[in-house]
Amino acid sequence: MTATIPSALGQPLDRVDGFAKVSGSARYSAEIPLPDMAYAYVVGSRIAAGRVTEIDVSAALAEEGVLAVLTHRTLPKIAEQPPLIPSLAGTAAPAQTFFPMQDDTVHYAGQQIAVVVADTWERAQHAARLLRVTYEETPPVTTLDQGRDRTYVPERIFGGLIPGRSERGDVNAALQDADIRVDATYTYAANNHNPIESSCTTAQWDGDELILYDATQGVNATQMTVSRLLGVPMSKIRVLGHYVGGSFGCKAMIHAHSTLAAMAAREVGRPVKLALTREQMFTSVGHREEQEQHVTLGATREGRLTAIRHHKLSPTSHFDDWAEPSVGVSSQIYACPAYEGEYRLFRANTMTPTFMRAPGEASGMFALDSAMDELAHELGLDPLELRLLNHTDVDAMSGLPWSSSGLRECYERGAQRFGWAGRDPRPGVRRDGNWLIGTGMATASYPVSPLANPQRARARVYADGTALVQAATPEFGTGVATVMTQVAAEGLGMSVERCRFEFGDTDLPNIAAAVGSAGAGMISAAVHSAATALRGQLIASAVGDPGSPLHGADPVDVVVRDGVMTAGTASESYRDLLVRNFRPDAEAVGQWTPPHDIPYGMMTFGAQFAEVAVDAELGLVRVRRMTGAFAPGRVLNAKTARSQLMGGMLWGLGQALMEANHMEPDTGRWVSASLGEYLVPVNADAPDVAVELVEVEDDIVNPLGVKGVGEIGQVGVAAAIANAVHHATGRRVRKLPIMIEDLL
Ligand code: MOS
Repeated sequence: MTATIPSALGQPLDRVDGFAKVSGSARYSAEIPLPDMAYAYVVGSRIAAGRVTEIDVSAALAEEGVLAVLTHRTLPKIAEQPPLIPSLAGTAAPAQTFFPMQDDTVHYAGQQIAVVVADTWERAQHAARLLRVTYEETPPVTTLDQGRDRTYVPERIFGGLIPGRSERGDVNAALQDADIRVDATYTYAANNHNPIESSCTTAQWDGDELILYDATQGVNATQMTVSRLLGVPMSKIRVLGHYVGGSFGCKAMIHAHSTLAAMAAREVGRPVKLALTREQMFTSVGHREEQEQHVTLGATREGRLTAIRHHKLSPTSHFDDWAEPSVGVSSQIYACPAYEGEYRLFRANTMTPTFMRAPGEASGMFALDSAMDELAHELGLDPLELRLLNHTDVDAMSGLPWSSSGLRECYERGAQRFGWAGRDPRPGVRRDGNWLIGTGMATASYPVSPLANPQRARARVYADGTALVQAATPEFGTGVATVMTQVAAEGLGMSVERCRFEFGDTDLPNIAAAVGSAGAGMISAAVHSAATALRGQLIASAVGDPGSPLHGADPVDVVVRDGVMTAGTASESYRDLLVRNFRPDAEAVGQWTPPHDIPYGMMTFGAQFAEVAVDAELGLVRVRRMTGAFAPGRVLNAKTARSQLMGGMLWGLGQALMEANHMEPDTGRWVSASLGEYLVPVNADAPDVAVELVEVEDDIVNPLGVKGVGEIGQVGVAAAIANAVHHATGRRVRKLPIMIEDLL
């Protein structure tokens, strides 16, 4: 053990990549200048079900500058289809187990049926319009109402992670005996991700070696997936993805376009840039599925839960059993002896849905904590009091104690900052002119990922006294480059100004895709491990070196600050040590394997509070205030953590009031295909957002006790807003998003 000086950790350091981003020097995967670049435009199917009977490519091929048109007749067959496993696991991670253009079948609207490659983007787009496609169309199944009578309970969902059904206790008996029951159905429109940067892959072959510049949450995931699909060894594929302009889950799994870019580049013998249009972002990178959730609560007259039943119905693709794991939240976060959770799926003409920010929890918590609000209302209990009454210190499903919680403190500090105390429980009694005013609250929870592949990072100190720390992860806007610079500085005992974090490259030590709010926890663990190993190595060199002033000191007495090792009155810098010994640098690799099969429940908690104003005549809902209190373990950077949580809360506002996409039942096409129709909150919609950080210590989850802030901010927001709408108006809206017409 060596003593550590409290340092950069937790400080609200500005983003180290901030200047590169605002000045435009940060390069994204569609901005890589390569000589002789060609451009690929993907053509999507206009029908949602059936087959392509003919594609006449002659007119397109005759156009100037057109290099190739690939269709199901000409695209090479894939070598192997890997199974769908979440990229966090560190395996190949295709977003679906269907690869387009292997035959003439059409499973969903927008499915890739051709790739046109030309010497300019405009020519590729123009030529794509000249394709003459003939289809044989069959009626699609797309909506819940079309699929309701053909459902099944899958064995597992969510890439094999979650069982289709789970239970404890006797729910039927408990519901029978309950003093009071709440039984309600909640419906949800589908959601699309829409990060600022549309997905893009730029592919370049050099002989049989491939370089991909990919907008991805995990360069290693892209490398492994493309390797399996193409049958090209991983050693010959390098994936670079330094900067990624947001993702929220649509770049968590590897979608077909990344492999199509490589295929197109091989076909034309030139580097190929394949960028999705904004419209294609609605059909090519997954979405949060349309769904219906049914919650039944049983409780005693005092308000103690005796049973929770939570069922979900949703469409999945023809090839994968995918549902976001929405009902799990009901099994874990409240004390309750009986639980039953079930997913029902039906095969529809859709691509496989995918992760979307707080996958499962965000939608599940809307149902659970809306139902809890209904229960509180029926019992005449304060909603916060009902939560406290059913608080659990153990994971209610496994019975294992939480590795850390902080939930009580979140309720307390959130309520205090929001001004919850003394709330008049009666709906529809507060008014401000023509506005009806109401407040609502909800619990927030998000699991700490238990996947168990080793994470690696490398730390190097140079003879000039600067340090380079490396890990493969891309920076997709979370602040990871900044935070890992801080973790490296802390571990090495150096100032952040002298440390540089290099990222976004499969040639660097591997890190699984940063998914499921696990990025900060797993990457910091590897970086911390590498940095502290290197510090220990340098201290050992100094105390063992007869030429060092520290020679003979006990390593445990050596403190490192600003790159200077000190024991008592003796000191020497890393730099002097390396120069004297003719060493250009020193380096160490750190490795960390996430814990699994350990006797703890691992969950991040928070509490959400919202105040809404509803126009009494127009039904317009405005969110006036939001307060969120969160206990994400150790906070590595107060500024970036707050930004993540605030962004999550505003995302929750979008989920509550704006975000919606629908399939046209007849055509199986999405109604919204641009940001003109698909609404997200803008600054004018954003209320005052207050974030309370409740720091809890956790020495189980990972070395620095980091539980993650990427998704928890969103969980519970929609319930808090819906509950506030009920408080304001007396109207219970069990549907997302809540629209004006729901309140007229
Ligand atoms: Mo996150 S939606 O798990 O990438």
